[in-house]
Amino acid sequence: MKDLIQKAAEALLQSRHAIALTGAGISTESGIPDFRGPDGLWTKNPEAERMAYESYFKFQKNPREYWIERLTGPSILGDLEKAAPNPGHLALAELEQMEILKCVITQNIDNLHQKAGSKKVLDYHGNMSLLRCYSCDARFDPRQFDLERLFREDRLPPLCPRCNGVLKSDIVHFHEAIPMDVADQSQEEALKCDLMLICGTSATVFPFALLPRMARQRSLGQGTMIIEINAGPTPLTQEKISDFLIQGRTGEILPLIVQEVRKSWSKNRH
Ligand code: APR
Repeated sequence: MKDLIQKAAEALLQSRHAIALTGAGISTESGIPDFRGPDGLWTKNPEAERMAYESYFKFQKNPREYWIERLTGPSILGDLEKAAPNPGHLALAELEQMEILKCVITQNIDNLHQKAGSKKVLDYHGNMSLLRCYSCDARFDPRQFDLERLFREDRLPPLCPRCNGVLKSDIVHFHEAIPMDVADQSQEEALKCDLMLICGTSATVFPFALLPRMARQRSLGQGTMIIEINAGPTPLTQEKISDFLIQGRTGEILPLIVQEVRKSWSKNRH
């Protein structure tokens, strides 16, 4: 393990454009369950997964009902507002402050990278603290809309101040397209990076799982380093898309990597 941590730290120090891809595994140490791990939401409750596959169709069919459910029903991930970033999130934010990490592309909707201080975050599956217009993709802070009052006065769904389209949560549901702006920027980063850290994801959900493959494809012979940090191997490990896997908890391994980086990092390196 120690040598893999050193190898990862050296690669970060050598990198010109390092990025990180993250999944639910990086937030389990913040008390938010993942989906497909041994204690994952879908692993334990396949019915909940089946329901999640219907959310988008429900919204398209009856946005008012969708909103009533969102405002009155329980959140399957618990109270995300109260969740706090853990040492894994903080380590990535620190690498950004050191100008080594250029961007985080996350599948998580929990806003914890932003809470940890990361500035360049692409929310690939949306962000629970935002609303997005179904027609023009504009995003808004939900506090602008007094949703409780719209509910009381039976005036749901909230409408877009720009185009009068229907607003939904910014969360990207199954069957829903990844918003164009985030999809384009993420692909650009994956094609530009010379180091990709992949943290806490089963890498089984597409199109996100294409990003490492794009980086590998583009880099054939040009040496993009792809490093996984995960509780166990993933298809990226098995298919040798990644160069190596550091097996363990992101909240423990990422701070150790930053510690190693700090030993030989100097301000004028990057
Ligand atoms: N450290 C490292 N790895 C961890 C940790 C941890 N503390 N906790 C869990 N893991 C691993 C699990 O073993 C699993 O391999 O992280 C991975 C999480 O995988 P998933 O549960 O499949 O989550 P993710 O890859 O983010 O899912 C992708 O699927 O359900 C949808 O929209 C949802 O964004 C989500 C997407």
